[in-house]
Amino acid sequence: MTDRDTDHASHHHGFSDAFAEHLDREALLATDVTSGALDRAAAALDRPVRTALDLGAGTGPGTVALARRFPDAQVHSLDLSAELLDRLTSAAARAGVAGQVHPHPVDLDDDWTKLVPAGVDLVWASLSLHHVIDPALVLQRALSVLRPGGVLVVTEMSESIVLEPDDLGTGRPGLADRVTGGLAALGHPSTADWTVPLAKAGYVGAQRELTDLTVASDNTDGAAYLATQLSAWHNNLAQTLSSDDLIALKTAEREIRAGSSPVTQTTGRVVWIAVRPEVETRK
Ligand SMILES: C[S@@+](CC[C@H](N)C(=O)[O-])C[C@H]1O[C@@H](n2cnc3c(N)ncnc32)[C@H](O)[C@@H]1O
Repeated sequence: MTDRDTDHASHHHGFSDAFAEHLDREALLATDVTSGALDRAAAALDRPVRTALDLGAGTGPGTVALARRFPDAQVHSLDLSAELLDRLTSAAARAGVAGQVHPHPVDLDDDWTKLVPAGVDLVWASLSLHHVIDPALVLQRALSVLRPGGVLVVTEMSESIVLEPDDLGTGRPGLADRVTGGLAALGHPSTADWTVPLAKAGYVGAQRELTDLTVASDNTDGAAYLATQLSAWHNNLAQTLSSDDLIALKTAEREIRAGSSPVTQTTGRVVWIAVRPEVETRK
């Protein structure tokens, strides 16, 4: 899916079950990235986590991972969508962490700082910061609620996306490159580099780390995820690809769903771990 789909879904029509399931699957397939980011955050923290925030929490994979990793923490989960927060509440209950989780339906572009406790230990923003109108302001507000020594973790998609095989299993050479090229022209994967904005907002030690993430169609979740991607891209690229390529893309989607096509998508996740310094450094 592209950002356009996300914005469309969130701002105009509410979230479809299919979209929420896609978000869940995306998070499931990135479990290792999440646990690696939690390891790095835990290493950067000088005290146990009592309060954590999940900004743009969606269906709750970050919230649940935070609550599990830090059993003494209360996790405040902020999102524009009350529907997604309902799913988050159910996910927290299924994971046995409902008592630690506090959902807040809120627009991150408003001032949300009064809704959450002061002295936050850990702020988590996964695939959400690029959605807000003024990310610098959100970074500043997150800094203002963090305690000195508190840690911010930001995750985004990496810029590159590689699809294999070259014909996506359809016998049309170069189809994969034409799809990724068309998506790039539409600004997908949508991402941002937060290294400079983090320093400008007053964080220190903003370390950026890239992890590759490969999703393969040879397992149920990978196949369902990739088929949904291809279907959304078919719509996004309707004006870009030739009609033969569009037909081939539908064929690839069908074969992935049927379990008869060995397609992989390799992207990455970039994770920044940044700290609120003991002494203010904002430029
Ligand atoms: C791609 S999803 C990521 C969800 C979750 N963090 C994850 O990693 O699976 C982006 C989330 O940001 C939320 N979002 C976008 N703009 C927002 C805003 N202005 N205020 C609050 N939430 C917002 C959306 O509702 C959506 O749940």
